[in-house]
Amino acid sequence: MLGQLLLATSRSRLVRRSVSGFPLTRKVVDRFVAGEGVEEARDAVARLTGSGLTVTVDHLGEETRDADAAAATAAAYTRLLEALRPLGLGERAEVSVKLSAVGQELSDELALENATAICAAASAGGSYVTLDMEDHTTVDSTLAILRKLRVEYPSTGVAIQSYLFRSEDDCRDLAVSGSRVRLVKGAYNEPPSVAHQGRQEVDRAYVRCLRILMAGQGYPMVATHDDRLISITEVLADRFGRAVGEYEYQMLYGIRTDRQEALAGAGHTVRVYVPYGDDWYGYFMRRLAERPANVAFFLRALGGK
Ligand code: FDA
Repeated sequence: MLGQLLLATSRSRLVRRSVSGFPLTRKVVDRFVAGEGVEEARDAVARLTGSGLTVTVDHLGEETRDADAAAATAAAYTRLLEALRPLGLGERAEVSVKLSAVGQELSDELALENATAICAAASAGGSYVTLDMEDHTTVDSTLAILRKLRVEYPSTGVAIQSYLFRSEDDCRDLAVSGSRVRLVKGAYNEPPSVAHQGRQEVDRAYVRCLRILMAGQGYPMVATHDDRLISITEVLADRFGRAVGEYEYQMLYGIRTDRQEALAGAGHTVRVYVPYGDDWYGYFMRRLAERPANVAFFLRALGGK
């Protein structure tokens, strides 16, 4: 219930304005967001990669209906990738892009044009782009844009959400050679007509999707903090003869950092999703919705504790 309320609030412009203006909010947000500027993002990337992790960096922002704002987001990614290039990290530092932030709501063509510019900047540094997946109304468009991007940039990846009924079919389509698929549970408020509602159903669907990806020819990116799913991944890797390095784990910045380090210490590729920028509201609210304890942490900080 609380999670659904927070997800609904994540779309409210009024609450966005009130929360963003609260002076203590920033301190709390810092737990999940690397900073506002490119320099802070680059420092976080240097720190994480220096400790044996890999990263995917997200310039925060979503849902614009303004072509100039969409172009500005693409330019921000280009600046970020240029700032990262001297670190010489190649594919150890890729970027994650929300197509709604680069014009998807205006037209697929505009989103494709902006995403292509980001792919070109990533490719110049030997790196890639992964497309985040947003609410279910955007999935067909995102997968269509992915197919076009992969013609010139075949390593472009995409997130698939196990809570959607359609995702097993999407995993089957995407489990092909060269394809990079990030499997997540899903973070949006979706209706029962399109998505599993219970945690157990979502987890079981995750395992079914994971099995398809691990058995297939692509590169699975197992994005979860859930220990049971990590154990199941290891069983499936064994069953389908996938060595360490033929799949990777992904987790969010600031969440289960001990687990991130332990997996990397055991030789796994662990990619940390590093968000930065000042448009953190929607991202932050989804992190609160995932875990009631985060709300308590937020309220304590607002109370000055
Ligand atoms: P679950 O929510 O069951 O959490 C398992 C355990 O992890 C919890 O018990 C807790 O210990 C810890 N944990 C999880 N979330 C936490 C939090 N917010 N704070 C503190 N602890 C927490 N979604 C989407 O719809 N589209 C996308 O493109 C992406 N992209 C993406 C990239 C990466 C790298 C990750 C890791 C996740 C996403 N997500 C996403 C979010 C995803 O859908 C999901 O909401 C979260 O990963 C939480 O689900 P878990 O699989 O971790 O399981």
